[in-house]
Amino acid sequence: MRGSIAAGAAFSILGATAKGQGKAFRVGIIGCGGRGSGAIAQHVEAAKVLNDTLNLGIEMQVVACADFFKERAEGTGKRFGVPPERCFGGADNYKRLLEVPLDNVVMAQAPAFRPPHFAACIKAGKHVFMEKPSAVDAPGVRMVIEAGKLAREKGLVVVAGTQRRHEQGYNQRYQLIKEGAVGKVLAGRVAWNMGKIFHNTPMNPTKPEDLVRGGNWQLWIELSGDHIVEQHVHNLDIANWFVGRHPVSAAAFGGRARRKAGNMYDFFSGDVDYGDNVHIHSMCRQVGGCWDWVGESFVYEKPAPAGYKFQEPVRYSDIPQKGGAYVQEHINMLYHILKGKELNEAQSVAESTGVAIMVRDSAYTGKMMKWNEMFDDPKANPEIYNRACKPSWVDFEEGNIAYPKDGDAPVPGTA
Ligand SMILES: NC(=O)c1ccc[n+]([C@@H]2O[C@H](COP(=O)([O-])OP(=O)(O)OC[C@H]3O[C@@H](n4cnc5c(N)ncnc54)[C@H](O)[C@@H]3O)[C@@H](O)[C@H]2O)c1
Repeated sequence: MRGSIAAGAAFSILGATAKGQGKAFRVGIIGCGGRGSGAIAQHVEAAKVLNDTLNLGIEMQVVACADFFKERAEGTGKRFGVPPERCFGGADNYKRLLEVPLDNVVMAQAPAFRPPHFAACIKAGKHVFMEKPSAVDAPGVRMVIEAGKLAREKGLVVVAGTQRRHEQGYNQRYQLIKEGAVGKVLAGRVAWNMGKIFHNTPMNPTKPEDLVRGGNWQLWIELSGDHIVEQHVHNLDIANWFVGRHPVSAAAFGGRARRKAGNMYDFFSGDVDYGDNVHIHSMCRQVGGCWDWVGESFVYEKPAPAGYKFQEPVRYSDIPQKGGAYVQEHINMLYHILKGKELNEAQSVAESTGVAIMVRDSAYTGKMMKWNEMFDDPKANPEIYNRACKPSWVDFEEGNIAYPKDGDAPVPGTA
C-alpha cells in the first residue's frame, strides 16, 4: 500500500501583513493543460487579492499536480515549485494526488473524467473548483449531483467554471428577475456560434494517449461530450439560472457539416422546453464563414422600471472585485471557505451540463428527450437513464478501451 506523501511545510506568504493571521491552503491540480494552468494561477492570485484588500492572511501553496500525462503534471509543477515526486500521471493520477495532504483541488481535466474525480475529492473532504462541463452523459451528471449533496453535508465549497455566475453584470440582471422588477423570463435564445476551432485531421486512435493528447479529447463525444456540452454549456447555464429551473424536454437537430476529425457534430439547434410555455432556442456551431454570435437574450414580462434600485445587495457585491471573472470565481471560493459560508455550484453546473446532454441526445437520435427520463426516474426509460458514453472513465482506468472511429458520428432516426 502506498503511504501518504508529506507536503512541504514552507508556504509562500502572499500578503505583507499575512503571516500568522490567516489560513494556510494547500492546493492540488488535476488536469494541467491550458485552463488548468490558468485556473491554478488564478486560485493563487485570488488569495493575493483577498490578502491585499481584506488582510485575510491567506497562505497558499500548490502542493501536488496530476494529469493523464506525468510530463504535463511536472511542467505545471515546475512553475509552482512542486517537486516531481508530487506530480502524478496515468489514469489513476487523481487517486495519488489525493494521498497528498491538501485542502483545495482545482480540476480542469477532460470532462469525461470529472464525475469520478469530483466524487473522490468530495469523499476525501476537499473544497473543489471544477471546470465545466461536469460530465458527458446522464450517469455522470447524476454522480456530480450526488457528490454535490455530500459536499453540502460536509460543508465543502464547490465552485464551477461557469464563470458568468461570478460576474457582477450577470448577477445584476439576475437580481432584476429575482426582485420581480422585470417579471419572469417568457422566452429567449442562447448561443455559442463561432468559426472553425480544433484541428481537422483524422486521428485513427489505437492507444489511450491518442484520444487524450494535445486537445484531441475535444473532438470525441466520449471525452468532451461534444461541443454543445463542452462549450455551449455556458449559455445554457444562464438559461437555467434566469428561468429559475431546469427544462422538461428538448427537441433538436444537428450534424457534421465540415468536420473530419473525431466523431462529434459541428452544429446543433434545439428547442428547449422549460414548461409553463417557456421555450429557449439553443444554438451552437463551430463552422467557419457563417453567422457568429455568443450570448444570451431573453424576453421578460416587462421592462425594468426607470431608475430601479435593488432592494437587496447583489450577490458577491460585498466581496472584493478584481481581475475579471476567471479570478473572481476563485476569490468568491476562498472567501466562502474562510468565512464558513455555503457556496456549492455542483447542482447548477450538473443541471446545465444535463440540458446540453439532453439537447445533444435529441439531435443524435432525432427524438424528443425528456429530463425526467434522463435524470430523475430510473424506471421511466431505463435505456435512456443508463445510457453512458463508451469508452468511459472506468474503461480508461482498466485499460479496456474500444476505440471510436473518426467520422463515426450518430445518425438521427437510426438509434
Ligand atoms: N470556463 C472556461 O471559460 C473554460 C475555458 C477553457 C477551458 N475550459 C474547460 O477546461 C477543461 C480543460 O480544457 P483545456 O482547454 O485546458 O484543455 P487542455 O487539453 O489544454 O487540457 C486538458 C488537460 O487535461 C489532461 N487530462 C485529460 N484526461 C485526464 C485525466 N483522466 N486525468 C487528468 N488529466 C487529464 C490532459 O492531458 C490535458 O493536460 C475543459 O473541460 C474545458 O471545457 C473552461
